[in-house]
Amino acid sequence: MAKEQLIDKTNRVINYLRLSITDRCNLRCTYCMPEEGINFLPHSEILTYEEMLHLVRLSVEAGIRKVRLTGGEPLVRKGFIPFLESLCRIEALKEITLTTNGVLLKELAADIKACGISRINISLDSLKAERFFQITGRDYFDRVWEGIQEAERLEFDPIKINVVVMKGINDEEILDFARLTLEKPYHIRFIEFMPVGANNGWSPKKFISMEEIREQIGTLGVLRPVKSNPLDGPAQRYVLERAKGEIGFIGALSNHFCEKCNRLRITAEGHLRGCLFSDQEIDIKSPLREGKGDAHLFDLISDAMKNKPREPGAGRHGPRKCIRQMSSIGG
Ligand code: 5AD
Ligand code: SF4
Repeated sequence: MAKEQLIDKTNRVINYLRLSITDRCNLRCTYCMPEEGINFLPHSEILTYEEMLHLVRLSVEAGIRKVRLTGGEPLVRKGFIPFLESLCRIEALKEITLTTNGVLLKELAADIKACGISRINISLDSLKAERFFQITGRDYFDRVWEGIQEAERLEFDPIKINVVVMKGINDEEILDFARLTLEKPYHIRFIEFMPVGANNGWSPKKFISMEEIREQIGTLGVLRPVKSNPLDGPAQRYVLERAKGEIGFIGALSNHFCEKCNRLRITAEGHLRGCLFSDQEIDIKSPLREGKGDAHLFDLISDAMKNKPREPGAGRHGPRKCIRQMSSIGG
């Protein structure tokens, strides 16, 4: 049974772990990775599935109740389904979710569902094949769309679709995405473009704030707020009248959510990270591989939780770039 919930110095309950299971990806989104890819980590530097399960069990002891699997693209890693099966057997976890780019979803959705997962986030920044190609560097729009349809057929619930909005690139599709919620049960979540990682193309000219996006959508009708629950992330949730789906806004920059942040991250190479915008990391893989006991590893996890940065690295002090690419941290 888990110990008491860990609360950091500012009374934040840290109960949500984002686990990056690989830094590799089958897309090359301009805001995340250069076309040639990044210097991917050698396989031996990536945590094995056994190591990840071990760290998740310890994190659960430290109060984690929700795990999100991220990447890179989690579905590209071999052996993903058996890993997910084992993860789903960890009883104290109330929620396991997955963020995927959807490229391999059509093939894997049924197996994912069979593991007991029904919540899924799919990244999709355009509803047009050509623009999808411009943003991701790959011609896979149809595959992703079919993956989303398959998730719907299998009754994944909710199906969240993450849209990173970039001015002059895909902002003219804001209303199309919002209208999709009238016919489909999808939760469309508009995410502010963040300056994370080196050379990700961020500039103030490409930035469009949550407020501006919400105003545009307001022209379609009244946005009624939806109450969120304690394991929810930072999205502000709304519905349009008679809609089947929802609309969410994630003000990654303008409305920075440090004071409510309940997250801890484990990177693909096995570093604990308290904050996306801080480069402060604790290497937990080395002590794990050196055979240090669970008590020591548990202390590292609780240290990372207690010392989670309190200050927004972005927003109030102006955007700040962190050294690592988004793909190796896991969004
Ligand atoms: N700004 C905002 N969102 C981003 N993501 C990746 N890079 C950025 C960025 N620079 C999003 C992806 C995905 C999630 C994991 O993070 O689109 O939905
Ligand atoms: Fe891959 Fe996601 Fe990065 Fe796009 S944003 S390149 S899908 S890891």
